[in-house]
Amino acid sequence: MRKPRILLIVGGGIAAYKSCELVRLIRKNGAEVTCVLTEGGAQFVTAMTLAALSENPVHTTLWDLTAEVEMGHIQLSRQADLVVVCPATANLLAKMAAGIADDLATTLLLATDKPVLAVPAMNVRMWLHAATQRNVATLVESGVTVLDPDEGMMACGEFGPGRLPEPDAVWHAIAAMLGLTETPVGPVADAHDLGGLSASLISRSTVSSAVFGEDLPDLPPLPELPTPAAAPAEPGLLLSRKGKAKAAPPTDAEAINHLVSGQSEPEPLPELLGEQLADDPLTFQPDFEEDPPHRPLFGKHVLITAGPTHEPIDPVRYIANRSSGKQGFAIAAAAAQLGARVTLVSGPVTLPTPVGVDRVDVETAREMAEAVKRALPVDVAIMVAAVADWRTMDVASEKMKKRGSAPPALRLTENPDILAMVSVSDKRPKLVVGFAAETEKVIQHATEKRQRKGADWIVANDVSGDVMGGNINAVHIVTAQGVESLPEMPKDDVARALVERIADALVPPASSDPR
Ligand SMILES: Cc1cc2nc3c(=O)[nH]c(=O)nc-3n(C[C@H](O)[C@H](O)[C@H](O)COP(=O)(O)O)c2cc1C
Repeated sequence: MRKPRILLIVGGGIAAYKSCELVRLIRKNGAEVTCVLTEGGAQFVTAMTLAALSENPVHTTLWDLTAEVEMGHIQLSRQADLVVVCPATANLLAKMAAGIADDLATTLLLATDKPVLAVPAMNVRMWLHAATQRNVATLVESGVTVLDPDEGMMACGEFGPGRLPEPDAVWHAIAAMLGLTETPVGPVADAHDLGGLSASLISRSTVSSAVFGEDLPDLPPLPELPTPAAAPAEPGLLLSRKGKAKAAPPTDAEAINHLVSGQSEPEPLPELLGEQLADDPLTFQPDFEEDPPHRPLFGKHVLITAGPTHEPIDPVRYIANRSSGKQGFAIAAAAAQLGARVTLVSGPVTLPTPVGVDRVDVETAREMAEAVKRALPVDVAIMVAAVADWRTMDVASEKMKKRGSAPPALRLTENPDILAMVSVSDKRPKLVVGFAAETEKVIQHATEKRQRKGADWIVANDVSGDVMGGNINAVHIVTAQGVESLPEMPKDDVARALVERIADALVPPASSDPR
């Protein structure tokens, strides 16, 4: 089995020095790396440093007579399994988006037929500039994976998004794109910090599994590019439209039976019920026999997310979606019935906590991501929640008032991608199951999502009818082995069917891989 090959393009940003550490990490994790240094990049790191660390020649110019006898620039762009631009300067992003090819790096990027990962780093104003955001949206739309920059204090003294994610987070994204999600990574402060690895894990094409081993998912290249998660329709004014989903009851804040907090306790049981449960944990769960072999998830820890998230705009308004949480709660109940220890991280919903389930209530996507991180490690993660894709960049501290003629513009930013975060976590569960609510091309989009997010299974459902908020669901379970379509049935039955399949996958026959 040959080593995966990475072509690393180092752009002219202050964070270029971190590319040296990235080269070291890539090699430490068993991959090969060849570097291309832009003219700007060479102002910050030397070709000598990168050559010494990569133990490969460093390419700096298109006008290399020796290499170009063999069309070296085309060869370079094709030999790699993945092209990584790190740091991706505002200038490089702009040239990539416009299809400019005026130096070796940009020519390679235009010529390559391999997936491309761009890791932007720049001053916060440069990052937030409408031109940069437009360029990023164009790149995402055309299939380039663009990592969110981290937020924090910048070299220029300003604070905000624009910092290069730490090299280990970049490595995790590389590993995810190469399908090497379980590759060991050296100890890192907080490898899966929300800023660094969130969102936009959208690969242009599949890396051949033949290169890396037999057991990797081997799905055909994506037939159609996915919709970008963070492409503003107009700079500075972004309105989200979520397809044809309709008709779910609005959530009633008064009826929420848990306070919103990161660490709430499981709902207390009535006294008598508590006593009965102490004697027999299967009380009121008559469908399962008492002895452990009939509770196949006994001893397993299952993490489930459910419901919507609410992203505040001001003290009284928020961005949300129509998810009721019913499907996630039903899955939590079914997993508990099969004997699992269940942690249910729930967005704001009006549902009672299923018996035997530990519930953590959260409000926003970022709180959900934190609660999920805290719950790891687990044996299985089932990410059912309909996490809001976006949140507003600024939350007004006072209720926003009507002003004159124009409504206020909401500036949106991407939320953490919790499913992708769990999939690339160094505490990755044995089985990661995501949900895909689709309104069209349900199976195709779910198949693409499984690859993009690094999940083992995607459970896809068509939400163009009354699924969101209703009691009936029809799902397709997309795995590496294929697609199983279940008939329309009550959400409780969908939950039971899914959890039974999870139990079958997790608990041997023999030592088969659950994925
Ligand atoms: C000290 C210094 C630091 C810079 N840091 C960045 C940066 O972090 N990100 C960025 O996009 N541009 C940065 N620039 C501007 C780029 O170097 C400039 O746009 C250059 O043309 C980028 O070249 P490249 O795209 O070939 O890398 C910096 C410039 C200077 C002088």
